[in-house]
Amino acid sequence: STLKLGMIPADGIGKEVIPCAQRVLEALGSAIPKPEFIPLLAGWEEFKKNGKALPEETIRVLKEECDGAMFGSVSSPSHKVQGYSSPIVALRKHLDLYANVRPVSSVSGIPGPKINMVIVRENTECLYIKKEEIHDSPQGKISFATRQISERASSRIGKMAFEIALRRAEERKVKNWEGWWEGPSKVTIVHKSNVLSVTDGLFRETVRKVKEMDERFKGVLMEEQLVDSMVYRMFREPEIFDVVVAPNLYGDIISDGAAALVGSLGLVPSINAGDDFVMGEPVHGSAPDIEGKGMANPIASIRSASLLLASMGYTTPAAKINTAVDSVLLQGKVLTPDLGGKSTTTEVTEEIIKRL
Ligand code: NAI
Ligand code: MG
Repeated sequence: STLKLGMIPADGIGKEVIPCAQRVLEALGSAIPKPEFIPLLAGWEEFKKNGKALPEETIRVLKEECDGAMFGSVSSPSHKVQGYSSPIVALRKHLDLYANVRPVSSVSGIPGPKINMVIVRENTECLYIKKEEIHDSPQGKISFATRQISERASSRIGKMAFEIALRRAEERKVKNWEGWWEGPSKVTIVHKSNVLSVTDGLFRETVRKVKEMDERFKGVLMEEQLVDSMVYRMFREPEIFDVVVAPNLYGDIISDGAAALVGSLGLVPSINAGDDFVMGEPVHGSAPDIEGKGMANPIASIRSASLLLASMGYTTPAAKINTAVDSVLLQGKVLTPDLGGKSTTTEVTEEIIKRL
């Protein structure tokens, strides 16, 4: 059998780091079914060339032919462009990839605080439904954005968060667990329902209910954190967090903050997960400031490939990738410039492959 994987490098450093993840998957040899990589188009470059940021063909192939996928990063412009809409946001919707799961952990060898948490970000709604409007008023322009929070989306992301907490409770029992939170597994609900009592209120209530209604989650602790103090506490005492569940925008922002704590955005992986499809994706964007220089850190993408494998049930080869990555970081000799090193994207990838 083969493993059919849709590969969507998209823009910027996505084009440099996704091939590295592909090389690592290839290097696993017989540890996984032979991977078959299907290159697929999407992105800002693609929009400029052919007028479509997310070609129908890409969606079709993903839905009909692929067992899973990897996405790089897209260079979405910061101003409105007629007809353009971010393909990653659209893909998450089309494939109903409702959860963005982002493990963030410190690594021995890289300076920084102790942190081992999983951010579970709702991936389909919140302000990212992009219902925006603008009007003229006597005082000048005035704009609005609609924020959608539904019971259904909050409930399934809540369930995902508690299930991850259960899995981590199991992992804790195994030796060499480098979690810093000492207590039983814990889910922190992030919201701002002191101000947004309707939308964030519904998110909070719904996630709370997920725990209360399900016997399995009895032993998992639950706490809440307003999003602003979440940032504060995460910077002061990141070791206290275990699983963190948040609406889309808060989850997006918290993850970049958490990435700074472990040394680089170039280290943090994610998967976009639905009930029947998973797409690995580094947390970072297209990094135009370092694009084309061969200095992008491939580790976020390589770790995303590992998460993708694990989610498909190939836990042993997935762990093998992580062990190889960790040993490169621990040794601290072959690192890209974001981590203070002098090595290139390719050199780091080859060093990881050597240790597989
Ligand atoms: P960014 O994540 O691309 O870069 C932020 C900073 O981190 C930059 O200094 C960059 O050089 C550094 N960085 C990111 N990834 C790195 C890596 N692998 N190795 C070394 N350094 C790395 O965020 P920015 O600059 O705000 O956005 C650039 C573009 O990316 C924008 O067009 C934005 O729309 C897009 N973007 C796309 C995302 C996606 O495809 N899911 C997510 C975030 C931003
Ligand atoms: Mg982001």
